[in-house]
Amino acid sequence: MSNVTVIGAGYVGLTTAACLAHLGHKVVCCDIDPNRISMLEQGKIPIVEDGLEELVLSGIGSGQLSFVLGARHAASGSEVVFLCVPTPQRQDGSADMSYIVEAVNEIAENLDPGTVVVNKSTVPVGSTTVVESTLNRPDVLVVSNPEFLREGSAVHDFLHPERIVIGSDDQGAAIRVATLYSKINAPLVTTDPSSAETIKYASNAFLATKISFINAVANLCEAVGADVRDVILGMGYDSRIGFEFLKPGPGWGGSCFPKDTRALINIAEDGGYDFKLLKGVLSANDEQKEIVTSKIIELFSSDESASGHVAVLGLTFKANTDDLRESPAVGIVTKLLEAQIRVIAYDPTVLPTSIDRFDGKSDLAYDKSASSNANDMSSAFRLEQSRTEKIQELIDKGLEIASDPYAACDGSRVLAILTEWDQFKWLDYGKIADSMTKRAIFDGRNLLEPSQLRRLGFTYRGIGR
Ligand code: NAD
Ligand code: UGA
Repeated sequence: MSNVTVIGAGYVGLTTAACLAHLGHKVVCCDIDPNRISMLEQGKIPIVEDGLEELVLSGIGSGQLSFVLGARHAASGSEVVFLCVPTPQRQDGSADMSYIVEAVNEIAENLDPGTVVVNKSTVPVGSTTVVESTLNRPDVLVVSNPEFLREGSAVHDFLHPERIVIGSDDQGAAIRVATLYSKINAPLVTTDPSSAETIKYASNAFLATKISFINAVANLCEAVGADVRDVILGMGYDSRIGFEFLKPGPGWGGSCFPKDTRALINIAEDGGYDFKLLKGVLSANDEQKEIVTSKIIELFSSDESASGHVAVLGLTFKANTDDLRESPAVGIVTKLLEAQIRVIAYDPTVLPTSIDRFDGKSDLAYDKSASSNANDMSSAFRLEQSRTEKIQELIDKGLEIASDPYAACDGSRVLAILTEWDQFKWLDYGKIADSMTKRAIFDGRNLLEPSQLRRLGFTYRGIGR
């Protein structure tokens, strides 16, 4: 069993730390956000992630997992150090490497000779070399080990991956990283660092392409009178196609597909290749959000005499996460508000009772005065602001947040489902129908059974059906 340090306690870092501790390693996990660290020390989880709390509590209990503020001292005494810091998108679409460079600068002096530094963040091809030169430690080895977990099922995906990819020019270092995962039963792909980095971007871009393709097919189905659900069934049984990532919706979002797709276009451009296919995928995704917005506005405008607002169910970029980064729902709500339409939204992770936290009063808000780091414009501050600011911005534009789905629907003219939270399937749509001024549903995730809703008097519109 190894001594491991994980830098960054976000979706990837915290999952990595908790799962490696669960696999028997001694793990120190650090972050630059003091509030996040103090919550974690008490076993409180700052993100919504199934099964993570149990693992963190058991890791703390067994002494296998601990948390510290800042990377500087966390990395000394470790055999393997994982970089799990953000690589957000720059204005030109390329990946921002400044968090990686900041973290590497912090640890460089304190690493023991022979340490392996593992890059788990999603980074441009060639970044292993950037980390090596920033470290300036010839006695330390750098390995690429991209992560493929999905938010909402991060723990499951980490412990049951489809494959483990390790990119290194040093066989010994690759073996040391592979050994950390020896209890996990998954194919191991060992390659050079550039190929490992490319595998990560190409995988995300391919999945995004698959979704955009099925969204386009759904639009085609509407045009020719076909039902996309049956089309998917007929396609998916072909094992070369499969059923995964063929659910049409309001467009793909989240913290990774949009930024990684743009980054790959950028990487290709830098290499002298014009990745036209991927540019098309990106614009098809933008178009999908426009199409969905227009459908809602069309339903809303079809009876100008009716009173009422648009009730939106779901704000996160997908179900089972609290992440609002590049959420299609947020973009669509913004467009509705800009069109002067009153919107009342409900999302299980964005509740009025937690709105205090959007004023910076919560446990999660970064307290600058508490920082021991002079470099205060830290990533924690910038990132926490992004969720806070997003909700505040929507509220400033007029969005009202309801405490339950029925309250959001009460008095509405159109109900729009934008995130596929399972609980939305089981609502009492008879009760909702009675509380609406007009019975119209836009089901942006094809979650509901149209015939049942039509029986209740609803005008139903879904995607591709
Ligand atoms: P995140 O924003 O949830 O977490 C990153 C954490 O790193 C934050 O808590 C931040 O405060 C901390 N941090 C930043 N600089 C630090 C430093 N110098 N020292 C210590 N902590 C620091 O990000 P994430 O979603 O976990 O993503 C991290 C990386 O993994 C990105 O490159 C992302 O593309 C990639 N990735 C993400 C996912 C996902 O599902 N979210 C999946 C695979 C890969
Ligand atoms: C995605 C990848 O699935 C992970 O393998 C990868 O590690 C991660 O990005 C990353 O690099 O960060 P994630 O962003 O958590 O994971 O979410 P997904 O489940 O992939 O969904 C992404 C978007 O596609 C969501 O907006 C979702 O609603 C949409 N989607 C997904 C569809 O519209 N249809 C589908 O069939 C699947």
